[in-house]
Amino acid sequence: MNWKKDRVVEHLKKTDPEIYQAVCSEIKRQQKSLELIPSENSTSLAVMEAMGTVLTNKYAEGYPSKRYYGGCEFVDKAEDLAIGRVKALFGAEHANVQPHSGAQANMAVYLTALEAGDTILGMDLSHGGHLTHGFKVNFSGILYKGVAYGVRESDQRIDFDQVRELAKKHRPRILVAGASAYPRIIDFQAFASIAKEVDALLMVDMAHIAGLVAAKVHPSPVPVADFVTSTTHKTLRGPRGGFVLAKEMFKKKLDSRVFPGMQGGPLMHVIAAKAVSFLEASRPDFVDYQKNVVGNCQVLAGALMEEGFKLVSGGTDNHLLLIDLRNKGITGKDAEALLDQVGLTANKNTVPFETESAFVTSGIRMGTPCITTRGMGPDEMRRLAKLISRVLREGEPSFMDVRREVADLCEQFPLYPEL
Ligand SMILES: Cc1ncc(COP(=O)(O)O)c(C=O)c1O
Repeated sequence: MNWKKDRVVEHLKKTDPEIYQAVCSEIKRQQKSLELIPSENSTSLAVMEAMGTVLTNKYAEGYPSKRYYGGCEFVDKAEDLAIGRVKALFGAEHANVQPHSGAQANMAVYLTALEAGDTILGMDLSHGGHLTHGFKVNFSGILYKGVAYGVRESDQRIDFDQVRELAKKHRPRILVAGASAYPRIIDFQAFASIAKEVDALLMVDMAHIAGLVAAKVHPSPVPVADFVTSTTHKTLRGPRGGFVLAKEMFKKKLDSRVFPGMQGGPLMHVIAAKAVSFLEASRPDFVDYQKNVVGNCQVLAGALMEEGFKLVSGGTDNHLLLIDLRNKGITGKDAEALLDQVGLTANKNTVPFETESAFVTSGIRMGTPCITTRGMGPDEMRRLAKLISRVLREGEPSFMDVRREVADLCEQFPLYPEL
């Protein structure tokens, strides 16, 4: 796909110059800044090509060979490929690749496993959990009773004594493991033992670490969890979307809760793109990529600590790190704004035992999936740590120098040179 010369894009340019311009500007923004948001990635051109195909035209309610529409023979092939590949990639008994997003993958599991009013025991949002794990303003906390566990204050690791205590007290129907801002390996076996003790089901939301799990650089939840949910667009580097893996015994109910329970027609162009990303994730170079993502994150973490930054849990085992800025006298909100000024995109984030509001926060979350996709390595991580430190310490007087260095890195490690 050549964005400038491709005929399809020429049509867009002619038909809707405003949207064309927005897309061109976004390509430039991605090329000319460094993306440190750990939940984002840059897909391959093949993934994007699959998304921009005529598969978007096709209604295909139902499942392969059991559709409510004619003319599905080719989209059936695409969905069968996606299902087969994701099952093989993660060693799962059953897969549903139709959820439009991570939130909907989680909804599909709750509709399968719970009745309205049942209890979900999940990780506290401000300790690293996700909205859909029972937070009160999300459907998961509106339709169900959310109870939250967290990390220990002493070492900021998941407090399994608390998880067990809350599980025994509240007898959740489902125990949810997985997080959006937890920088350490998650012990899925420990969650499985607690779920068993209280006769709860175990759902693992591996959205953030799916790529690491696929590459076996993080232990897999699949052998021990009843359900595993994920997005496809974070470390897994696919299109925006979700999927659910489940034990065979839940296959029929889960599929019926996705359709007709929760969604109408599946997005067949996105499912085709998911299939492409699952194929890419099964290749040896994807394992090297994920090892580099984690290696880079550890180097970045070490270099930031040398610069005097305090990291939640004292470091990282995965693709992300969380800086607690309280010893630097700056809020997450202000740090995000300063970094933005020099082309470093990160996001403010609450830290465990937060003292600021969710709009201000005391932390900033960073990750290495995107910059590793660009080909950066340990030397660049050390350089980045110095740049981050300088901007947060000096503010505006550092902008010109740091912008120049960021531009230099962007040029040295180009993103989508074809576009
Ligand atoms: C752990 C986790 N689960 C679910 C989601 C939701 O995914 P989506 O934004 O695709 O609905 C996220 C998104 O950040 C996440 O971090």
